Amino acid sequence: MKILVIGSGGREHAIIWKLRQSKVSPNIYCAPGNGGISRDARIVSIKSDDIKGLLDFAVKEKIDLTIVGPEAALAQGIVDRFMRKGLSIFGPTKELALLESSKAYAKETMCRFNIPTAGFEIFDSADKAIDFTNRPRLFAAHYPVVVKADGLAAGKGVVICKDRKEAQMAIEDMMVRKIFGPAGEKVVIEEHLEGEEASILVVSDGISFTALASAQDHKRVFDRDKGPNTGGMGAYSPAPVVTRDIHKRVMDQVIEPLITGLAKEGKFYKGILYAGIMITKQGPQVLEFNVRFGDPETQAILPRLKTDLTDLCFASIEDKIDRLKLEWEEKSAVCVVLASGGYPGDYQKGFEISGLDEAYSGGEEDSYVFHAGTAISPQSTVHNLLPMAAGF
Ligand code: AMP
Ligand code: GLY
Repeated sequence: MKILVIGSGGREHAIIWKLRQSKVSPNIYCAPGNGGISRDARIVSIKSDDIKGLLDFAVKEKIDLTIVGPEAALAQGIVDRFMRKGLSIFGPTKELALLESSKAYAKETMCRFNIPTAGFEIFDSADKAIDFTNRPRLFAAHYPVVVKADGLAAGKGVVICKDRKEAQMAIEDMMVRKIFGPAGEKVVIEEHLEGEEASILVVSDGISFTALASAQDHKRVFDRDKGPNTGGMGAYSPAPVVTRDIHKRVMDQVIEPLITGLAKEGKFYKGILYAGIMITKQGPQVLEFNVRFGDPETQAILPRLKTDLTDLCFASIEDKIDRLKLEWEEKSAVCVVLASGGYPGDYQKGFEISGLDEAYSGGEEDSYVFHAGTAISPQSTVHNLLPMAAGF
């Protein structure tokens, strides 16, 4: 079996590492991959947003299964394009990828199905949004409020504003100065929620769904939850904050109404659905949906999965989730991200990473090195990689 994994991060490396344990012994390709992934899969030099290039490759190579890591390819409709050519691909269609690529779409969908989420208003003009912050009505009277760019903004499009001045600045940045380009054509202004965050991931075939192990990621760059937010400095699984009761409430109040509600409208959500949840005093509320595996949650979740990952993907594609029984290791897993100093701001690339041989040859029992954005330097031996960013 030939499998194509799309992406170049630690998440994709973890997916490939897991696929290598599959009973079907697949030939694994990765586009565009990275230096570390090149040890475990054949690298294909096609960017993850070059949908035509990826499609041509998959048709020519007769790829049996494609797994998409990053949201951008899903938002561009890679699943629709591959399906039209009769190719098996794991993930949602362009329309349903809007649950991540448009915060306004996600909010309106949640409203339709009575899914608990922060109060909100959607604006398509800066004047109206600013007017809203000036008028003491609804939640805008109570700061902080959260201003969100509607579209994909690489995790930077959410601003928690402690007063009116900050809210107006965020609106102007997004809608007038257009710092996120078209992603800021609309903004969502949202009530601020307090509580602990957790990620709940399920795999769905559009009708049935089943939960993956819980996980929690750490967003701040420094220890003790200090410093700016990042794409994720680490994760662990399971997440103790997701008690049996919380898990059941999220399944009953969020996942089930969403998957079933969409199906009743003739929209069948396939692939991974990731709900970012705030556990508030009033119960779990949805912060966001992602339409793909989380990064770095996947690096902590997949090492605990005993089930063959190809079975999980095909159960979703072939509408057999009701027959899928996921099995998990009882052990816990933690992923720690090592990043170049300065991240998430400007940082220097090109440092050599050493010591990987020792880690690969089983330094600690059950420890793995997943690479994100590394490359193999032409001057060095195979394990000297740059730039660095790796997860254990
Ligand atoms: P999002 O991309 O919408 O999940 O937002 C990114 C992060 O911003 C979340 O993980 C939360 O830490 C924070 N956040 C987003 N929305 C809210 C909210 N309504 N109240 C409090 N924090 C929020
Ligand atoms: N860890 C957050 C995300 O994957 O979006």
